Amino acid sequence: MSIPSETIQKIQQLRQQIEQHNYNYYVLDSPTVSDAVFDHLFRELAALEEKHPELITPDSPTQRVGASALSTFKEVRHRSPMLSLNNAFDEQAVSEFDRRMREGLEADIVTYAVEPKLDGAAISLIYEEGRLVQAATRGDGTTGEDVTENIRTVRIIPLKLSGTTIPSFLEVRGEIHMRKADFIRLNQKQAEKGEKIFANARNAAAGSLRQLDSRMTAQRPLSFFAYAVGELEGLPAPTTHDDMIDFLRQLKIPVCPERNLVQGLKGLLEYYQKMGDSRAQLPYDMDGVVYKVNDLKQQTKMGFVARAPRFALAHKFPAEEAITLVEDITIQVGRTGALTPVARLKPVFVGGVTVTNATLHNEDEVHRKDVRVGDTVRVRRAGDVIPEVAGVMIENRPSRTQVFAMPQQCPVCGSNVLRLENESVTRCINGLYCPAQRKGAIMHFASRRAMNIDGLGEKLIAQLINKKIITTAADLYDLKVSTLTALERMAEKSAHNIIDAIEKSKRTTLARFIYALGIRNVGEATAKDLAAFFGSLDCLINADITQLEGIPEVGPIVAKNIAAFFSESHHREFIDHIRASGISWEEGPQHIPHTLPLSGKTFVLTGTLQKMSRDTAKEEIEKAGGKVTGSVSKKTDYVVLGVDPGSKLEKAKTLGLTILDEEDFSALLK
Ligand code: IVH
Repeated sequence: MSIPSETIQKIQQLRQQIEQHNYNYYVLDSPTVSDAVFDHLFRELAALEEKHPELITPDSPTQRVGASALSTFKEVRHRSPMLSLNNAFDEQAVSEFDRRMREGLEADIVTYAVEPKLDGAAISLIYEEGRLVQAATRGDGTTGEDVTENIRTVRIIPLKLSGTTIPSFLEVRGEIHMRKADFIRLNQKQAEKGEKIFANARNAAAGSLRQLDSRMTAQRPLSFFAYAVGELEGLPAPTTHDDMIDFLRQLKIPVCPERNLVQGLKGLLEYYQKMGDSRAQLPYDMDGVVYKVNDLKQQTKMGFVARAPRFALAHKFPAEEAITLVEDITIQVGRTGALTPVARLKPVFVGGVTVTNATLHNEDEVHRKDVRVGDTVRVRRAGDVIPEVAGVMIENRPSRTQVFAMPQQCPVCGSNVLRLENESVTRCINGLYCPAQRKGAIMHFASRRAMNIDGLGEKLIAQLINKKIITTAADLYDLKVSTLTALERMAEKSAHNIIDAIEKSKRTTLARFIYALGIRNVGEATAKDLAAFFGSLDCLINADITQLEGIPEVGPIVAKNIAAFFSESHHREFIDHIRASGISWEEGPQHIPHTLPLSGKTFVLTGTLQKMSRDTAKEEIEKAGGKVTGSVSKKTDYVVLGVDPGSKLEKAKTLGLTILDEEDFSALLK
């Protein structure tokens, strides 16, 4: 059957639109459509591809979710070696570099391309006829690892180049990294899940890049900036580094916006100073700046020494670590009730800011590092924002220090805490009766990716809770300008702005609202999946646990948490309260999952079946929502009996299970 050309065209058009939106969102940081519109386009494409799987190509945006796991990475030999850079740690070394360039090039003054030195992992991307065909790590510089499947999941990297002229062959080199905010969010998530905490953004980026299972990489917020071209064929090559990077930018390959062109030593040092000053404000980490002779002919003239180009230099920033004293270890309570130990530090200046506390993540992390009150510690600004204790200087430990112990009561509300087996998180069990959890829940509700209520900060929320003006996020919608202006330090204008922002948040999307509810383990992605699947809030609320488990993206733990959340009457009242205040979103096509007749039932087959083969029996059971297992246990619901049953029958009898002969079984299936 031939495929109508309109379908092919539609698919191409959707792919192009989606990738353009990805570009606007990830590269330009300025989306032009709402999440709902984007999701709609994506679902339309996915549906067409499902109907015509033969039209799926590796560069379709639907393929960015990762493929099945590899056992090892293939080796890749680089066409030209991936070099490293010579480092400079002071002005003297920079001055000598500039002198060598001027002498070598017989020039009075040299034009340099200058750019941040990103702290991540180097990668080589190969595009043939505009399509991404290979991605490889640097490895030892000569041979790297083939991480193509992982790179395909990185949404900021185009799978297809766009622009008016596309080279027949292009090797782009650049840095895979993780933005500060993404890194912090990732570590928070890891800590909540009791999974590995990354020491810094570079480890997180490099680790994510080298996952054998690309579906794991797809979950990690990786970013990329290109900083060089390895090889270019099929088009005349630009003659300067700066033009080369502009050329990449035209092909929609992300490049660092903070790059520049400068003249001579003075220009280099000014740039170093400027980037050092703005470092804390930039969204990504850097460990220095890179200077490159701009003219490519001049670069060739300078050539290489050993494993580094002579025409380039990395000018490193001083390490962002400092030494200070732990004055206390206190406990913070978050919105899920998680107790986070925090080291209160003697104020110390690290990387441009004064640090007074550092997160210790959870009980196990404190014990692993063995941080104690009175210890001298090395403090580092991981991801440049959240300070962290890098290590304890045991030799400076005073006598009579005490090993840290997690409190048995919530420090905010005094109720008991609980740490479940297999979890690293200790939680206050008081739920929304604990003021700290209430504050956290409201902050989450108002946050940018949830209801996006601008100007409603932590201090204001705390004040509103302490004064008993609000108890839940629903009460926000009853606030009046006069209530706010009655608070300390609240000007009329700010009060108006906040009320306006609350009003504006009423027009939202179902996905945002589900995310805002703060259901345990329901992050942004799951909230989107749920919204897309159910199309309406009521369908979601009414779904039972087996129906929820039946959704491909939802696992058993998430299903349990969702069902538990909506089964609580105060959560339903909360939702009714918000709905009554006039919140609205566009509902999609409603979807009520039908519960299958044998949902949740477990079967064991024993003996030879006469009426149908075992495979057919298994298929029939699964079609009806049931499961077939190999051995009989207390959890088995039915044992189906064929001819010459084995010991399973005896066991089933001992356990008092329901035993079906083939006739009973057929009747049940009907
Ligand atoms: S140019 C010919 N530019 O630093 C030299 N490298 O120590 C190729 N890096 O492995 C590198 N930011 O991964 C260059 N703007 C930048 C960079 C950069 C980070 C990394 C790169 C390389 C290492 C060299």
